[in-house]
Amino acid sequence: MTFTLKPLASAIGAEVVGLDLRTAIDDDTIAALRDAWHRHTILLFRGQSLDHAQHVAFSRRFGALDDHASIPRFRHPEHPEILLVTNHEAGGKRLAVGRQWHSDLSTTTRPAKGSLLYCSVLPPVGGDTMFCNMVRAWETLSPGLQSMLDGRWALHDMTIARETRANRTPDDLADIRRRNPPVFQPVARVHDEAGHKALYVSEMTTVSFENMTRAESQPLLEYLYQHSVQPENVYRHRWQVGDLMMWDNRSAMHIALSDYDQTQPRMMYRTTLLGNPSGRVAEEAALALAA
Ligand code: SIN
Repeated sequence: MTFTLKPLASAIGAEVVGLDLRTAIDDDTIAALRDAWHRHTILLFRGQSLDHAQHVAFSRRFGALDDHASIPRFRHPEHPEILLVTNHEAGGKRLAVGRQWHSDLSTTTRPAKGSLLYCSVLPPVGGDTMFCNMVRAWETLSPGLQSMLDGRWALHDMTIARETRANRTPDDLADIRRRNPPVFQPVARVHDEAGHKALYVSEMTTVSFENMTRAESQPLLEYLYQHSVQPENVYRHRWQVGDLMMWDNRSAMHIALSDYDQTQPRMMYRTTLLGNPSGRVAEEAALALAA
């Protein structure tokens, strides 16, 4: 099978033209797609018409899938591999997902390798997603800052995310933290398949650098966030129904924008590729220093 690639932006992304993802795709084509994914970090497939089983089947060609057991509220009742990414009411609550820059599951010791988001319903305007290239973010730091950060670890904690904190009491947050213990991740993370290094800190989850307080860490973290999402390092995707976007969480961050009328529905479905183990659970003393 053949496909062509059309760049989406100079920093990141390519559109894959010529494939219908409902059909049986041969192994050589999957290998070529994997190679393109590693080179471009995000791949867009436009004009698809996928049911959940087809979405899951295509995603599985790139590895094992998460069953989203840790986030049951968002998981599809009949297809556990499908995460409901929507602003619809669910369980009586309005949902908001991914509205700060992040890399999926960085707060776990098995962060997601990739995610495949399929667009089903869009508001009349907006509902865009932005992506930034974290390999480029790392490579464009000065040699001095790179050598300061390389080999360092940073603490990731899901309870600092704005969405996690919204409408939750300190007791709720302590309970979430007990069930999802904060983890240390490398600040410069080596891609386990492509071999390149990427900056791996995010405004949604990163608290501090190891052996430093939160107050000491924040100015440098803020600098790294701003550096990562400079206009020349991002791509803003304006969705069309039928788009499937596949991103590499090891080399990109993304953010779902609140750039639309929240009374209008937006419904996306996501599969999540399990990654290799990364990082380690933080000890109590480290958490006390970061408090
Ligand atoms: C996500 O963070 O996985 C969702 C992104 C989006 O809804 O655009």
